[in-house]
Amino acid sequence: MYLYGASGHAKVIIDLLNALNIKVDALFDDDPSINELLSIPVLHEWQGESPVIVSVGNNIYRKQIVEKLGCEFGTIFHPSAIVSDYAKVGEGTVVMQGAIIQSCAKIGRHCILNTGASIDHECCVGDYVHISPQATLCGNVQVGEGSWIGAAAVVIPGVKIGRWCTIGAGSVVVSDIPDGTIAYGNPCRVRSFVGVNQEGERVCRTNRIAIYGAGGLGREVAGGICRINHAGHEHWEFVGFYDDRLPVGTSVSHYGKVLGGMDELNAVEEPLALAIAVGAPATRKRIFERITNPNITFPNLIAPSFRILDPSTFKIGQGNIIQDNCSVTCDVEIGNFNVFNGSNAMGHDVKVGDYNVLMPGVRLSGEVTTGNCNLLGVDSVVLQRVKIGSNVTLGAGSVLMTKPKDGNTYIGVPAKKFDFE
Ligand SMILES: CC(C)(COP(=O)(O)OP(=O)(O)OC[C@H]1O[C@@H](n2cnc3c(N)ncnc32)[C@H](O)[C@@H]1OP(=O)(O)O)[C@@H](O)C(=O)NCCC(=O)NCCS
Repeated sequence: MYLYGASGHAKVIIDLLNALNIKVDALFDDDPSINELLSIPVLHEWQGESPVIVSVGNNIYRKQIVEKLGCEFGTIFHPSAIVSDYAKVGEGTVVMQGAIIQSCAKIGRHCILNTGASIDHECCVGDYVHISPQATLCGNVQVGEGSWIGAAAVVIPGVKIGRWCTIGAGSVVVSDIPDGTIAYGNPCRVRSFVGVNQEGERVCRTNRIAIYGAGGLGREVAGGICRINHAGHEHWEFVGFYDDRLPVGTSVSHYGKVLGGMDELNAVEEPLALAIAVGAPATRKRIFERITNPNITFPNLIAPSFRILDPSTFKIGQGNIIQDNCSVTCDVEIGNFNVFNGSNAMGHDVKVGDYNVLMPGVRLSGEVTTGNCNLLGVDSVVLQRVKIGSNVTLGAGSVLMTKPKDGNTYIGVPAKKFDFE
């Protein structure tokens, strides 16, 4: 057996393989400074050796390595683990000392069921999940791909945890947890919406963040990042701005400097989170489409003052910016790359598409839906059930009562189509 990843987690897997009398021939690790682990050689170039267990605790990196290797993988159970004959366990999964998998539970591929984890009857655990030591999933719990359940957390029966979530140690999860969130406490509450991309993968792989756009919105977003850090919701390291209109090295208030434009951004070699801080909807879209660098990810940046009536019904994609004092009630869905510029309220069942910009004070009543690239002016209101298509501009202070035509501007109370001469 070969292990990929010479980490602390690998040490535990070596113990487990020893207990099963399976020889570890070698480990592989990209770090050239590690040459040995528990007297087993650590090599740096994998040349197709298999079977492999990817011994990396981080769920995102484990998935990336599995996809890179694409070989035969080992699946192992410590002899002290209790696994029902009616349970199914996917390839590459490691079941540690004392873990229990009860009848009809289904465990995905490349999961870690850590020391003493308890998975009760009919649970459904997705690929790349980590159930930490002593965590308990009661019967019929669902855990989506890539989620990490912290040590000694308890999930009560029937609860559904989304994809790429983090559940804090010792939490008691009593209600559903949406995709891409960090949640903790007793009762467990959603504290942060990191976001998932269209493939359902968690978008944020780094805490280094930059802003594209060094104008006024860029400075507001930089201030928002400071606020998020201050509240302890995330730990962003702000590295600077990208902007094609300003020379490299230009200072942007006290927040940081311009590091380059689109070419420099597309040449960045390390993982970097990016916020697109440009207020014109169509330009936001064009900027995103010009970013071809796979190292760039787009987290949601959500002000600590954001209020959600029922987080379990809230869905959000990636790359959204939600400034201070915004609120949503229940069953609200937000797509990707929208800007909520402060004090925006959204009622039940509101669905917002992509690249929309809501200026401060915009209110969307219940069941309003929007397509993409709309610009809603300061303090404008959209009445209940109005369906906005795409590329609509709504003037400041207007009240939109009926469905507007795509690509037009509406102004007034009630808002009427405005034709520019
Ligand atoms: C949930 C978790 C991921 C949050 O990490 P983080 O974002 O770095 O959070 P911080 O440590 O900055 O804490 C932020 C706040 O949340 C609180 N908090 C963090 N984790 C918590 C938890 N599990 N339960 C209750 N409160 C928690 C902190 O006390 C802090 O509160 P404060 O703002 O009032 O001071 C982390 O604390 C955690 O529980 N990780 C799981 C560890 C684990 O189980 N490992 C198993 C390895 S095998």
